[in-house]
Order: sequence, then C-alpha cells, then structure tokens
Amino acid sequence: MARVDPHSFFDDAQPRTKSWQLRLWADFDRKVIRGEATLLFAEGAKGPFDLDTKGLSVERAVTDGGKPVAFELGPEEPILGRRLSLDLPAGTKSVTVSYETSPAAVGLQWLSPEQTEGKKLPFLFSQCQAIHARSALPCQDSAVARVAYEAEVNVPEGLTAVMSAGPDGDAPAEAGRRAFRFKMPQPIPSYLFALAVGELEGRDLSHRCRVWAEPATVNAAAWEFAGTESLIARAEELFGPYDWDRYDMLVLPPSFPYGGMENPRMTFLTPTLLAGDRSLVDVVAHELAHSWTGNLVSNATAEHFWLNEGFTVWAERRILKALRGEEAASLAWGIGQNDLEEALKRFADTPGLTRLRTHLQGVDPDDAFSVVPYEKGARFVVALERAAGEAEFDHFVRAYMKRFRFQSITTEQFCGFVETSFPGLLEKIGAAAWLDLPGLPADAPRFVSPRLEELTALAASWTTSHAPDAAAMARWRPDETLVFLQKLPAVMSREDCARLDSALGLMGRGNYEILTTWLCLAVANGYEPAFERTRQLLTRVGRMKYVRPLYLALGKTAPGRALAREVFASAAPTYHTLTRRAAEAALAQYPS
Ligand code: BES
Ligand code: ZN
Repeated sequence: MARVDPHSFFDDAQPRTKSWQLRLWADFDRKVIRGEATLLFAEGAKGPFDLDTKGLSVERAVTDGGKPVAFELGPEEPILGRRLSLDLPAGTKSVTVSYETSPAAVGLQWLSPEQTEGKKLPFLFSQCQAIHARSALPCQDSAVARVAYEAEVNVPEGLTAVMSAGPDGDAPAEAGRRAFRFKMPQPIPSYLFALAVGELEGRDLSHRCRVWAEPATVNAAAWEFAGTESLIARAEELFGPYDWDRYDMLVLPPSFPYGGMENPRMTFLTPTLLAGDRSLVDVVAHELAHSWTGNLVSNATAEHFWLNEGFTVWAERRILKALRGEEAASLAWGIGQNDLEEALKRFADTPGLTRLRTHLQGVDPDDAFSVVPYEKGARFVVALERAAGEAEFDHFVRAYMKRFRFQSITTEQFCGFVETSFPGLLEKIGAAAWLDLPGLPADAPRFVSPRLEELTALAASWTTSHAPDAAAMARWRPDETLVFLQKLPAVMSREDCARLDSALGLMGRGNYEILTTWLCLAVANGYEPAFERTRQLLTRVGRMKYVRPLYLALGKTAPGRALAREVFASAAPTYHTLTRRAAEAALAQYPS
C-alpha cells in the first residue's frame, strides 16, 4: 500500500481507473450536480479501492454486473476531504457511483443571472486544479492517475455545455432539457477535468480553433484572440505537432478566479483579457503552451508544480520572442522579475515555499500558490537552455515531450532525463540549489534590454524631478507602461499620483495589468480619486491576481481599510470560494 501524493487518497497498490463515463445532471435551482460516475478498470479489479471526495453525498455504488458495492465515507480531513473506501468484488470491470455535489463545492461556481453579462440565464463553471475535481466527482484525484473520459451533461434548454473534451453530439433528453455528449480519448490528470454551462455562442477563429463566450462578449473575444492560430503554428514549430485535435477557448464571467486555465481542448479565460488592443494575449500563449508542458507531460503532484508552470512560462516567452522579437520578450522577463521579487518578499516567513521542489504534506496547494514556481522555474529552464545551447536545448525539449508524453512525472524523473541527455549539466548550473534551496540563486539568468533599463531609470527619477515627456508617454506600448508603473517608488505624493494619472490616462485603462498595478499604487498611497474605480473592480472581478493585491494595498490606509471592509461585505457572496478566501486572508492582515 502506497500513497504517492500528499494531496490524495490515491493508492498505487490499488486498482487504477482507466477511464470515466459520466452522466451529469445540472440542477440550477438547488445548485448541485447529480451524477453517475462509472470508473472503468483496465482489467478485472478487486479489493479495496479508495477515492477522493469533497462535499459529495454518495447514494450508492454498483459493479458492472449490477452488484451493490460496500462503501464507507471517512471523516472530513481539512485539505483532502473525505476518503470514499469501496470494496470491489473480484472481477469488477467497472463501478458506478451515484452521488450529488454540494452547493458549496469549492471546484464549482454557480452564478445567478445577475452575475452574467446577459443577466437572463444562470452560469456554472468548474476550476479543478489543483485538488478540486473531487468536489465535482468521486475520483482518484491525483495527477499521477491519468484517465480518459466520456460524459453526458444534461442542462436546462437554452444553455450550452462545454468541457475539456471534444463535443460528441447530443443525447436524448426530457422536455425542457438538453443533453450534450463529450469525449476525451487521451488520458489526462483529474485536475484537467472541466465543465462550463451557460448562454454561450462560438466564433470560429480557424479550422481548429473557436472562441466561446456569452453573446454580449463573443465578438470582442473573437477580435481579441484573432491571432490564436498563429500562436498555435509558432508553438508547433517549437514543440512539435499539436496533439489535442481542436484548441478552443471559453471566456468566462468576470468572477473566474484565474487568468487562464489550460483545460485540454477548451482553455478557460478571464474576461479581463479583453483589453481591446490584444495586449494580454500572452495569457493565451501560456495556456496554449500547456498543451505540451503540463497537459502532455504533467507534474506528478503539486510538489512538482514548477515542472508545469516554469516550463510553460519559458515556452510562452519563446513563443513571444518568435512573434514579437527579443525586446518584447525581455520586457516580459523584466515584468516577471519584478513579480518574482515581490513574491519572494511575501514568502519571507515561509521560505520553504520558494523552493522549486516543495514539501506540501499538510499544506493546501492553494496556499502554496505563488509566481515563484512560474518565474523561478522559468529561470531555471533558461539556465539549462543557456548551458546546453539553444539549438541543443530545443532538441532536448522535443525528446523530453516524446519520452514522457501522456505521463505525469516528478522532478527526479525530469532530472534523470536531463542527466542522460547532458551528462554533468545539472551539476554545472548548480541544479541542487535551484531545486531545493529557497530564494533565487545569485547567478540566476538576468534579462536586460536597453528599453527596460531606460524605463527603470525614468521610473526611479519620476518623483524627484524630470517627468518624461507627456506626449512620448502617451505613445508607450502597454508593456512599457506596465514596466514603468512597476518600477515607480512605492511611496508617492497625491500630486504625483494625479500627475501620473493624467499623463498616462490610467483610470480609464482596459488593460487590467496596467489598471490594477496603478490602482494598487494609488490606493496604497491614499489617493482617493482611485477608490471608486477600485470599488467597481472588486465588486465585479474575481481574478485573484488582482483581488489579493488590491485588498492588501487598501490595507495601508484607514480610509482604504474602511472601503475594503465595506466592499468585501457586499461582494463576498458573489465571489468564487477561492477568491473569497484570498480576500479574507488579505483582510486578516489589517491592523485591528
Ligand atoms: N494552470 C494555471 C492556473 C492554476 C494554477 C490554477 C494552479 C489552479 C492552480 C494557469 O496556466 C496559469 O498559470 N494562469 C495564469 C496566467 C499565466 C499567464 C501566468 C493566471 O491565471 O494568471
Ligand atoms: Zn500555467
């Protein structure tokens, strides 16, 4: 008996699920999914079989032969949820569990019509990474236990269901309902299970790419992401053929807690990417790159998360460099460097979480989440790339994908493969320190560009005297503006805030990276003209990357704290569970 994942009851000595057949019935009145999950085994299984569940009520379990299976739900554990222990009779080919989700399922958000763009129909979406699939269905919820799946999703008529799978036509449904069929033939980690139901329309962007969104947003989405096919083509040049058939995207309502989620065949995206100038499509490049780094080769557990995200940030910036050139890429690295330094400071009290290889026994992956595995991980990949040579490393990356395709691997397996490919290279770059020590090694790769230096210098001198020429500033590209804002001194006078706002037109920005960086700076300095826009944003948008720092910035002044408490009290019921937790944690840091 061996549990191999600190966040799952999955036991690799027990039968392994090969695939799922799901029948899901979405009940929007009660905010629950009623489900029948059939778990199929590669060969006749028997004996103890443990599944992860969270908030599920389990009605019964039967074998393929119709025999009832004895089961027991264990006690609730704070991070893991409840173990569902089944005892399979010999020769079991599949077991079907009938269950219901909880209205408070952490992996699902049920939106009222008012929380959607159209205001007429409700919406449901899932977000399963890292360990929330278990709140949507009983499963071996560990990335090492990969499964294919088929699903039938029954929803009220007028709503459309999409999944991290290919559409497979309609199934018969009762009056007033519609049933959609899906098929994901390739084995995926459970965290890539995804479902969304809402009033959706699609627009084709190419022969293999379509964007879905609510009718009110779909045209803006189609314009913003019109370049996706060229991203796919670039990614294929770098990493080999796209293996997942279609690359579709879904733009969610604004409460979606992340920027993007790489659900295979159906990337989920926040509507905050709709800047109106295509300036945030690097998030699409990132989620697309996960089709190789993350979905084809996945981290075995959350302790090896850097393998997913570090590699993907590296891949995203390689795509960016190929499409927009060296300078755009180095600005992106520069922005990342800033985010990394902030995060290293934020984790000063828990430095263990700034290692690449983490120890997460007893730690909730949502609490361990930060940009460290992203930006430090990507710098580690660059250290390898620079030491190996770019052409050799590209060759290595393709070989790596080939060797581990459709597998979920550990840092040790990755290192083993590097060692075989480039003997001595890990030692040469000091890989042990990268992986197992906190912080960033002193010799970490640096990215410099004349433009980055120039903007950094301009930002540093901003308050002391010479403002850059206003006309020139107005012509800055969004990434230039963002670098400049990030590099400004943390303490600014109200006059300087006002001057900055009028020179750059910050309050009216549609680019949320710029807007939130500005609002954080402004409210942290008690600049009250920024309060109303902050209130609107925190009432509407649930992306944690923006919500957390804004609540923290409001915490710096008494009027800010008053606003934050008021906004939180009214917005909390509409937040996603993860967003609510992040906001609560920020408020808990306020002086009382
Ligand atoms: N897979 C992540 C999102 C995620 C990570 C969800 C861990 C739950 C747990 C996704 O690929 C991601 O990294 N999204 C980023 C955007 C990216 C450009 C850095 C985000 O949401 O901001
Ligand atoms: Zn990612």
